[in-house]
Order: sequence, then C-alpha cells, then structure tokens
Amino acid sequence: MRMDKLLANMGFGTRKDVKKLMKSGGVHVNGEIVKEGKVHVDPDQDLVTVFGEEVKYKSHIYLMMNKPQGVISATEDSEHETVIDLILYEHAMYEPFPVGRLDKDTEGFLLITNDGQFSHALMSPKRHVPKTYVATVRGKVIEEDVEMFKRGVTLDDGYETKPAQLIILKQGEISEIELTITEGKYHQVKRMFEAVDKKVLTLKRTKIGNLTLDPELELGTYRELTAKEIELLLAK
Ligand code: URA
Repeated sequence: MRMDKLLANMGFGTRKDVKKLMKSGGVHVNGEIVKEGKVHVDPDQDLVTVFGEEVKYKSHIYLMMNKPQGVISATEDSEHETVIDLILYEHAMYEPFPVGRLDKDTEGFLLITNDGQFSHALMSPKRHVPKTYVATVRGKVIEEDVEMFKRGVTLDDGYETKPAQLIILKQGEISEIELTITEGKYHQVKRMFEAVDKKVLTLKRTKIGNLTLDPELELGTYRELTAKEIELLLAK
C-alpha cells in the first residue's frame, strides 16, 4: 500500500496534509525517514511511525457499545444524537455504522463496525443469531406466557414469532424477565409482550450470540472487541 494512502486512511488528514507531514520528515518506516508518498509499505510487516508514535494500520473496526436511552442507532439524524456521536474521532474516522438497531428508548449491547460482511453475517435472518434482552414489564408474567413465547405468538401485523426463550426473573405487578429471540422484527420484544396484554417499561439488550455485554462498560461508553470476541460472534 502507498504510504500516503495508509496515512490518509489512518486519519492524518487530506492528501495535501499527508504530503506536508511527510515532507516535514516526521514519518519513519523501519527507522528510516520516508518523504515520498508513493513509497510502498506492507502494513503487516513494516513499522510505521509518525513523530515517534507507531501507526497501527487496520482496515476494520469492531466496537461494543453500552447504548444509553435517548440516542438513535443510526449514523446520522437531523434531530437527535446518534450512537456515532458518542464515538471518538480515532474510531469514527473508520466510518462505522451500527449492526442492526435498538429503539431510542432501549439500552444495552450494540455492535458498531465498518465491516459490511461482519454486519451481514450477524444480521442475516438465515443465521438466527440469538439476542438476549432483560426487561421490566407491566403486568404479571406467568408460566403460560413462557409456553406461549416458546410456541410463538402472533404480532399485531399477523406475524407468527419463532420460538423464544422467556425466563421470569421476578413476578409481580411489575415483572422482570429475560427473553432470548432469534429474529429481529421491528419493536419485536415490545410487540411480543403486547401480544400477551403486557407492556414493556424498560428494555436492555445484554447478549448477542455467545457474547455478553461487558459489565465494566458504563452507559454511553464503548470499547473495541478483542479478536477472540469477534471469532465468538462469528462462530456457528
Ligand atoms: N425489541 C424491541 O422492542 N426494541 C428493541 O430495541 C429491540 C428489540
């Protein structure tokens, strides 16, 4: 890869900025000053530094965010803050986008990436990647609801849901539950509870596939996934 392209991709500005930076002598490859943008480097083999700081090249970025309420799962919105607004420039420069959507008032585990294939693999309806939610629900959730969700319920538009696993964590006028579904219809969890005459009051996604939201992540914060976590998500 050309040196000027690598630096531009890594957020060191426009081609003009990169040219200036290189002319200034701030860029080294394997300890040698490189001033010409057309010089080729192998990002996996060569050590590139800018003013002594190593530049670690990567083409893709994978983030786990603990989405707060009030923020939209989109890259742009004319009125509201988006999840991308919560991301530092050093990550936003990869132009990532959310993998699927959580409602504005839903919290929890959101994946953000610029890898279209990764996103597609997780979102594809054929793969049935399970997603787990914890919710508080107005109304007493009972064993019959567990059975109904296991069989599938009919949503307001006539859609029959696939078998889902409902666990009652606390039973009462306000119940607490955990629900795992393998599909992602619009407002699915809220509509499943409407189908059994109950109302979701708060909703948080805690798990995608085999990966649980890092409990260390405060609401509104995020971190990069490890290579192992990416592998875990893509494992069949
Ligand atoms: N189901 C919902 O109703 N809302 C979400 O944000 C996710 C799943």
